[in-house]
Amino acid sequence: MSDKKFDVVVIGGGPGGYIAAIRAAQLGFNVACVDEWKNGKGGPALGGTCTNVGCIPSKALLQSSEHYEHAGKHFADHGIKVEGLGLDIAKMLGRKDTVVKQNNDGILYLFKKNKVSFFHGRASFSKTDDTGYELKVAGAAEESISARHVIIATGSNARALPGAAFDEENILSNDGALRIGNVPKKLALIGSGVIGLEMGSVWRRLGSEVTVLEALPTFLGAVDEQIAKEAKKAFDKQGLKIELGVKVGEVKSGKKGVSIAWTNAKGEDQKLDVDKLIVSIGRVPNTIGLNGEAVGLKLDERGAIVVDDECKTNLPNVWAVGDVVRGPMLAHKAEEEGVAVAERIAGQHGHVNFNTIPWVIYTSPEIAWVGQTEQQLKAEGRAYKAGTFPFLANGRARALGDTTGMVKFLADAATDEILGVHMVGPQVSELISEAVVAMEFKASSEDIARICHAHPSLSEATKEAALAVDKRTLNF
Ligand code: NAI
Repeated sequence: MSDKKFDVVVIGGGPGGYIAAIRAAQLGFNVACVDEWKNGKGGPALGGTCTNVGCIPSKALLQSSEHYEHAGKHFADHGIKVEGLGLDIAKMLGRKDTVVKQNNDGILYLFKKNKVSFFHGRASFSKTDDTGYELKVAGAAEESISARHVIIATGSNARALPGAAFDEENILSNDGALRIGNVPKKLALIGSGVIGLEMGSVWRRLGSEVTVLEALPTFLGAVDEQIAKEAKKAFDKQGLKIELGVKVGEVKSGKKGVSIAWTNAKGEDQKLDVDKLIVSIGRVPNTIGLNGEAVGLKLDERGAIVVDDECKTNLPNVWAVGDVVRGPMLAHKAEEEGVAVAERIAGQHGHVNFNTIPWVIYTSPEIAWVGQTEQQLKAEGRAYKAGTFPFLANGRARALGDTTGMVKFLADAATDEILGVHMVGPQVSELISEAVVAMEFKASSEDIARICHAHPSLSEATKEAALAVDKRTLNF
């Protein structure tokens, strides 16, 4: 075994990995984290997909493109005149890169603060014995490190469409979608999931004609149907073309762009020629180069590392968290698993409540939810009560000039326990936290209805939707 010995080695420095490393260090362990992501200069870029090509840069571009859209379309409603409005895409992308770098550097700082040793390179298993595991780190120099516990947090990669590999020039993954240098006149997205809708929104706001091709016949199948319908109405109004129930055929990429053959829901053959294509049809767990075979690490048929409810793999003292294991591919789910694993290694009772993991789609209007949807409750045969409140009747939303959407509560018919909260509208990415806290504490809808909410605030819509469960809204 290597003489560079650690109590815990974390492989991967994304939200699952870096948070696990920090929590383990807080608990008194000697911790190392290995991550191979490189910035443009070949240096480390901690934070994984989320920080480098996911959550953070997409939110930076969503914000910039929203400002642009407001300046062009909505400032006039406020009596603000804008002349000579223009776009400097290079500057917009540069700002996004700065935001990413601030986050990268922030994690390096946190590692120093918490005394986590950082290795820049790719970690792979070499061998195991009674004392733990030996790992090879292939970076600028090759090193060998060993650990009693290993936490694998290697994330996921974009899934390519068969026969249309990503070239990040014409056929783009989430990575290339964040680096388009000129606004494409025509843009297609395959997959109307989270990435499809967020990236489609960015480039539509900046001026692209956007078509989204979705295989499923229903829009946002995992979202509460009423909320998904409301969101679709808003996206249609904005001019985002969403085609459901399609079958994508041959995709040809050439000098002039991309040509996509597809069949619509009626079975009619169609052709779409676009400047760029973003493929956002889900992601696959990443175990590339891990050499799990050397130690007998078990994967499932999807290529995910097999773990139990506590994130234990089939190997003693080897754990796995985040996108590389079962469950939703969300940064905050990975973080919670990372913390729980570090605490379990310390003999504590780390816990992740999968029923209260919030979901957010950062489109405009934003979509956010926690818990069960109405269609799920119906399928289960559970007796429930529902209450909704539209932002149209909320004073703050009117003052903001953004009254799209609603808040919806679902509560148990007998006990009134909140079973799900679903939102579409302004800033619901922030409003959903109240619902998460309420569900974590097993609150009833009456609990929320009795709590004093600041006026005027969007959060009053949450209170009113809770009141609506008992059919006693005050402002609608
Ligand atoms: P997704 O799973 O959200 O959506 C993929 C969509 O593509 C589905 O609607 C699916 O029916 C469709 N699809 C699959 N194969 C297709 C085909 N051949 N033709 C047409 N449509 C097809 O996956 P997405 O958007 O790629 O995102 C990947 C992961 O990243 C997700 O797990 C998501 O939760 C996560 N993510 C989360 C964000 C957030 O929390 N705001 C932001 C971006 C990504």
